[in-house]
Amino acid sequence: MIRILILQPEVTAEQRLKSLFESNGFAVAVVGNPDNLADADLTDVGALVADAAAVEGPLAAGTLQDLAIPFVLLAQQPTVQAAVAALKRGASDYLAAPYEDASLLAAVTTLTREETTDPLAGSLLMIGESASMQTLFNSISKIAPTDSTVLIRGETGTGKELVARALHAASSRRRAPMIALNCATIPGNLIEAELFGHGGSVTEQNSRVNRHGLLEAANGGTLFLDEIGELPLPAQARLLKVLQQDATPASADSAATDVRLITASHRDLEKMITNEQFREDLYYRLNVVSLAVPPLRERDNDVRLLAEAILQKTLQRLSKPVRKFSTEALKAMRAYPWPGNVRELENAIERAVILSEATELTSELLAIDTNPVPTVEQSTPQPDLTMEDYFVSFVTARQDQLTETELAERLGISRKSLWERRQRLNIPRKKTRNRRPRRNVS
Ligand SMILES: Nc1ncnc2c1ncn2[C@@H]1O[C@H](COP(=O)(O)OP(=O)(O)OP(=O)(O)O)[C@@H](O)[C@H]1O
Ligand SMILES: [Mg+2]
Repeated sequence: MIRILILQPEVTAEQRLKSLFESNGFAVAVVGNPDNLADADLTDVGALVADAAAVEGPLAAGTLQDLAIPFVLLAQQPTVQAAVAALKRGASDYLAAPYEDASLLAAVTTLTREETTDPLAGSLLMIGESASMQTLFNSISKIAPTDSTVLIRGETGTGKELVARALHAASSRRRAPMIALNCATIPGNLIEAELFGHGGSVTEQNSRVNRHGLLEAANGGTLFLDEIGELPLPAQARLLKVLQQDATPASADSAATDVRLITASHRDLEKMITNEQFREDLYYRLNVVSLAVPPLRERDNDVRLLAEAILQKTLQRLSKPVRKFSTEALKAMRAYPWPGNVRELENAIERAVILSEATELTSELLAIDTNPVPTVEQSTPQPDLTMEDYFVSFVTARQDQLTETELAERLGISRKSLWERRQRLNIPRKKTRNRRPRRNVS
């Protein structure tokens, strides 16, 4: 069995990582600080997962490299400089908090897997037997080995980042890093610096690392830009320039040329082009190959497969006794439209597990609304209903009954992103709300 060595001084974090890897079929060894690395038993260790801050000093950095084991750094306080420095020091991946467990597992699985010729290996972490998911896996296996630029489309929480990781994992670049940047979580004025570095002349040798951005850090590997629709126009222009330079041989300024670019968006980019919010020329550069991740409600019985798998992992992670879904909960899950897709399903199950006192998980515990909002139901068949229209009707129909936290949970998004979307879509939060006091507090 492949072993993962965890280097994490903080005990709670160490335990969390340990149970994450153990519940996914790895054996785990732990060391609390870098000084103990030299004495650790490295038999069968396939990868080291270390807290970035714990290995920042030059001594620790040297020890890491001497081990000759691929390592992944987890950064609680990530910075671009540290990411670039880490990758230059040989880190295979640098994951910035808050990262998804699935991203960490995908990174480690890629590193520890034996050389494989199975083009579908990268999709192994994704659950899906429905026809729509099988079509997606099939496309992934065909596209992954090429160097083509890929645009991943799909609603929020459908697994776009997992698809990007699967593409990277099944490509010849898999031993090089995949760097992921979510354009929606970085302030507009900082995105350019993150991506392209801090300018300055190429001949200035000092503070090299400071000047270089993620594009260079991803050299040889894959750069994944999530929520590309949120990229501000000046940064769009800059990215376009880099992509165009890339196509021109021997251009002076293209420090990082060997990068495969994968982008993702849940937005209607074509509509954004019409509204002059997204550059058409950039769109054509990004949309060389397009992959659509189907919404959960179009995946037939996958909802159940996913729910069962997520339930088992959640029980293990939270050390809870056996729980199963009631028949009525399974039915409700299948009927519910899951606007927040797989992420919403994960949140619903985690909440139900935490609240449950009996063995059976009911649809009430899952907080699945079995009476969908009429406006949504009526408009669902319209092919041009965008996720944003859905979001607006979902929020306006429920905001009087639910708190912001509850609303965000139902949508499977964070409160911060609920707030951001309210701003963007111009659905201000009502200042005074007369919420009925809850009667059935249990
Ligand atoms: N097919 C799948 N099998 C197992 N887990 C999945 C699958 N699809 C998505 N997930 C899980 O759902 C969560 C959301 O996935 P991910 O972050 O890739 O979605 P996303 O489309 O990038 O979301 P967003 O639009 O919010 O960026 C993750 O925890 C991921 O592990
Ligand atoms: Mg994403």
